[in-house]
Formats: sequence, C-alpha cells, structure tokens
Amino acid sequence: MAGGTRELTVDLGERSYPIYIGTGLIAELGRKFAERGFPVKSPILLVTDSAVEGLYAAAVEESLRASGYTVVRAVVPSGESSKSLEMLDLLVEKALQAGLDRKSTVIALGGGVVGDLAGFVAASYMRGVKFVQIPTTILAHDSSVGGKVAVNHRLAKNIIGAFHQPEFVLYDLDTLASLPIREVRAGLSEVIKHGLIWNADFVAWCDDNADRLLALEPDALGYALYEGCKVKSIVVSRDERENDLRAILNLGHTIGHALEAVAGYGELLHGEAIAIGMVGSARLAGRFGYSADIEETTERIFRKFGLPVRIPDSCPTDAIMGAMLHDKKFSEGNMVFVVPTAIGSVEIRRDVPSAWVTDIVNGLREGK
Ligand SMILES: NC(=O)c1ccc[n+]([C@@H]2O[C@H](COP(=O)([O-])OP(=O)(O)OC[C@H]3O[C@@H](n4cnc5c(N)ncnc54)[C@H](O)[C@@H]3O)[C@@H](O)[C@H]2O)c1
Ligand SMILES: [Zn+2]
Repeated sequence: MAGGTRELTVDLGERSYPIYIGTGLIAELGRKFAERGFPVKSPILLVTDSAVEGLYAAAVEESLRASGYTVVRAVVPSGESSKSLEMLDLLVEKALQAGLDRKSTVIALGGGVVGDLAGFVAASYMRGVKFVQIPTTILAHDSSVGGKVAVNHRLAKNIIGAFHQPEFVLYDLDTLASLPIREVRAGLSEVIKHGLIWNADFVAWCDDNADRLLALEPDALGYALYEGCKVKSIVVSRDERENDLRAILNLGHTIGHALEAVAGYGELLHGEAIAIGMVGSARLAGRFGYSADIEETTERIFRKFGLPVRIPDSCPTDAIMGAMLHDKKFSEGNMVFVVPTAIGSVEIRRDVPSAWVTDIVNGLREGK
C-alpha cells in the first residue's frame, strides 16, 4: 500500500472487512483483488455515475486489467433518481450480458447513490455476489460502512434493500479533489456528526482543523475519514441490524429528513439538512436541562464549515411537522429523537413533546 495509508477493520465476525484510506490507492486495486484471491475468470461489473465515470473509471479498469481481470463498465445518471428499480433492472441486464457468475464482483465507484445501488445489485444478483466499494464523496464514508444497500420506491426512500457487507472499501483521497465544495461541506457534516455522537476530542480536532479539511489536505482528510468510519464501524459492529444502538447514528436526521422532503430532494443536500437538524437536537438538549454549551458549540462548528444552521423560509413549520408525522416519528403525542447529553455523547429519547419540536422548528429561522 502507498505510504500513509490508514487501515480500519469493520468488525462483524465472519463478515468483517477492511477499509483502506489513503492516496494513490486505485493504482493498487488490481493487486488487492489478486492478493485476496478474487478469480480472474469471473468478470467484474464496475458501476459508476455520469459525473465520476470520465474522471476515474479508466484508472480503475486499468488497475484491474493489469492484474488480469475482465471489467465491464456500467454508467448510471448522476443523482438520487438512479437509486431505482429501473436502474437495478438495467444493471442486472448488463451483468447477465457480461456473463457475471457467482464468483464475480460488483464494484461501486462513486458516492452514496452508486454505493447503495451497486450494493443492492451485488446483494440480489444470483442471491448475492461479492461487493467492493470505492467511495468518491466524503458523505460516502458513512454509506460505505455498515452494509445497508437499497434503491428507492416512488413512495419511499431506501425501502427496497438488504444488508450486504463489502469485501473491502478502498478510499482513494485523490478522487475527492474534484468534488464541488458544497458536496465537501455537506459530507463533512456527517463526519462531524460521528464526533458529536461518540467522540468529543474528535469534535475539538475538527473545530481546530476546519481550514485543512475544507482545503482537502490529504493527511487531515484521511484522519477525519478514518475517525468518522471508526465511530460508525464501532456502532455498527455492536448492532449490525439496527435493533437499538445503531439508531444513535440518526442524530439530526429526524428534522433533517423532514427538511429534505419539504424542500424537495436536491434543494438542500442531505448533509446540509442534517446540520440544521443537529442544531435542532442541540436545542432539545437544552430543554432537557443539558448544558447550553452543546448548542453553542454545535452551531459554531457548523457555521465554521459553511453549513446552514437555520431552516429556509421555503419550508413552513406545518409542512415540516407533517413530514415527521409521515415518517412515523410520533407515538402518543411524543416524538423519538437522538438528543445530545454533552458534546460527544447522545441518548435516545422517546418522550420529546411534539410542542417542543414545533417551538424549536419555529425558532430555527433566519434572524432568530
Ligand atoms: N447505506 C447507507 O448506510 C447510507 C448512509 C448515508 C447515505 N446513504 C445514501 O447516500 C446517498 C448520498 O450520497 P452522496 O452524498 O455521496 O451522493 P451522490 O452519490 O449523489 O454524490 C453527490 C454528487 O457528487 C457527484 N460526485 C461523486 N463523486 C464525485 C467526485 N469525486 N468528483 C466530482 N463529483 C462527484 C455525484 O455524481 C453526485 O452528483 C443517498 O442516496 C443516501 O440515501 C446511504
Ligand atoms: Zn445521514
């Protein structure tokens, strides 16, 4: 591996897998396949999107071919709408035409959309083939750990899916250089979330290193992605199928998902919506009597990273509350929320009065 590569194991017993984070890693992909005994006779399906293809697909293919592998490329349109049954159908067709067999591998080269889609192809094609992730967004540090793969239905997001762990994740930091800055900030929002739920020291480190992270300095970025993946992997290895603990990963997501739905997907990026949501959760912490410092720190850090911390006027409170109701986040007038108890730790509260949430949503407006 190239110098400075960080390695982390997602500990899931027989399904454990490594995440490699560093620069220059794509060039080593073919060697990794050979080392791990992936059969050269079985063709590989490389799934990517229209924005990433022209940048990195050729390098991935070259690396694999140099080690004797046959690769077939499949490109889907960039964007959330590609997480569909229609794209699944097209990719299965491509896999059949290319002669993928039970020992084949599906590779996801892209952000969370490609990861979730290609992962679901890998989970379902011939009842499951090997899967490898090459994430190319910062947000995908989140989606590439934990094995949740899915496509959307027109009535609900991520509703058709599976748990399917990858063989390994290869995070080549060089690919992040082409990310639009808005995607960089939004991805860092989930990185900071992992600190807020689990690791106060890491939050402080992000605070001190905001400039280096926004400039995509490889050593800072490699460390931040390593720490973010580590928190997620600890949580996932203790609760792979989301029975209880894994729910803490949803900090900021109750309000965040509602904002995404009301603003219209794409208006607010996921990481932007959950930044606002995390400020809302921090306000809830104050209502429960936890330190006011939680809200002050949360808001200040997100502002430092250029993320939104107020609800846009295009999202009326009624519509946001309605979206949360639709999301089944209510039980008998109370709501379920992940609430910070300090920077670096959270608890799941099922006793959040919906009136508090309405107040907080009303209060999180520009000028307030
Ligand atoms: N499975 C999970 O546990 C999990 C967790 C979090 C999010 N997700 C899913 O992840 C998806 C969001 O992921 P995302 O934010 O990575 O979105 P994305 O995959 O749509 O990528 C964001 C945008 O950046 C472009 N892009 C990707 N890599 C690039 C690069 N290196 N250079 C230039 N442009 C690039 C993409 O084409 C797209 O336009 C959602 O569908 C969400 O449901 C899944
Ligand atoms: Zn998220």
